Amino acid sequence: MTKYVIKGGRPLRGTIEISGAKNAAVAIIPAAMLVDGACRIENIPQISDVTMLLNILKRMGARVRTVDRHTMDIDCSNVKRARADFDIMTKIRASYYLIGALLGRFGEAVVAMPGGCNFGSVRPIDQHVKGFIALGAEVEVKNGLVVARAENGLHGAEIYLDVASVGATINIMLAACFAEGVTRIENVAREPHIVDVANFLNAMGADIRGAGTNVIKIRGVKRLSGGSYALIPDQIEAGTYMAAVAGTGGSLVIKNIIPKHMDCITGKLEEMGVSIEEGEDQMLVSRVKPLRRINVKTLPYPGFPTDMQPQIATVLCLAHGTSTITEGVWDTRYKYVNELLKMGANITVDGRKAIIEGVDHLTGANVTAWDLRAGAAMVIAGLCAQGVTEIEGVDYIERGYEDLVEKLRAVGADIESVDIPDPEEQEIIKIG
Ligand code: EPU
Repeated sequence: MTKYVIKGGRPLRGTIEISGAKNAAVAIIPAAMLVDGACRIENIPQISDVTMLLNILKRMGARVRTVDRHTMDIDCSNVKRARADFDIMTKIRASYYLIGALLGRFGEAVVAMPGGCNFGSVRPIDQHVKGFIALGAEVEVKNGLVVARAENGLHGAEIYLDVASVGATINIMLAACFAEGVTRIENVAREPHIVDVANFLNAMGADIRGAGTNVIKIRGVKRLSGGSYALIPDQIEAGTYMAAVAGTGGSLVIKNIIPKHMDCITGKLEEMGVSIEEGEDQMLVSRVKPLRRINVKTLPYPGFPTDMQPQIATVLCLAHGTSTITEGVWDTRYKYVNELLKMGANITVDGRKAIIEGVDHLTGANVTAWDLRAGAAMVIAGLCAQGVTEIEGVDYIERGYEDLVEKLRAVGADIESVDIPDPEEQEIIKIG
């Protein structure tokens, strides 16, 4: 086990390069299951969610070859069974993409129920299931397994999503790639990684149009064949470092981004008094003036991303006046608030709303990362705070941020990853 130890209060200065998008990678890796032959995927982030997914594919018989640190050749031609019910599946949310991918390829899928970050209530998959049924599958969810079968093959369908779900949009797109005829999905999610998955599939021979709008149309094709594809940069990783420098002050060049994807975050930080200069694939983010209060509501893209909610809330703790946050995607996502209170923040949560009274400073404390973005928020809080912050539960952070400690150290942060001795091992040493 490891923890992060941060001595706060240093402004960040320098350049940070953004890695490939986690939420694109975790969908495109299972999508390789649909491809006949090897596909080369570039700009893959080195994060533990990716490692777990690659291990799942390997256990199913896929060949995975590392070309360099961020490039893999994945060949799933040898996978013979539509079954993925390993324990590891329950640790990662994105394992649900194997349902759509296996159903699309084999006409059947037996997959363990997905795990992943938990935001209070259960994370449902009813919209995924509704889509698979419309395409002609029978779906049963029991004993921790999702079993989907299309005995007579999959056929095109008209599907209206009740909520613009990222996961359901991608999963139905995967299942429909080979479905006979045309599938039309309405009220789909429009996140940049949805467009990335569609672009990947099209590069391999699929016929998908409309990704990035409200309606996606998929004309079934007979086969996808190998090719190469580079993932988009991670919008949320970039947003996290933008929020960090907004909190600490200083100035960061954030490289390898698509500025258009950042608009929803940039607008809010500018409203807070942060200066942002956009280049073609980078931006200069500086904060010299005091931070102003704002109101934020999280919404599906192009709205302000829920995956940036804990990070912006942390920065707002240091803004003048009263800010409000309204969580518009998940039932609740405020478990991190108790940790910020330990550091001297003044936040009241009422259902989906958080009211944040700005304070003069945060003070270092021992805190826990309860999920991936909550963990990122703890890092930002630690960087801004006076004194030392120790963060436990950093495995969550490493699921989604490549080289976070190294990237932050390179721009002046005093952050260290420290091994926590295992108490049982200590006991053995004492006895020995
Ligand atoms: N929902 C349903 N039924 C469904 C699916 C979703 O009611 O069948 C609801 C959810 O309960 C939620 C809303 O729809 O209230 C949105 O859920 P969505 O399906 O869009 O979320 P997801 O696909 O499970 C992905 C990201 C999350 C991110 C959300 C929203 C991945 C692997 N995960 O989750 O990312 O918060 O979209 O943008 O892509 C993260 O990266 O930290 C993270 C949690």
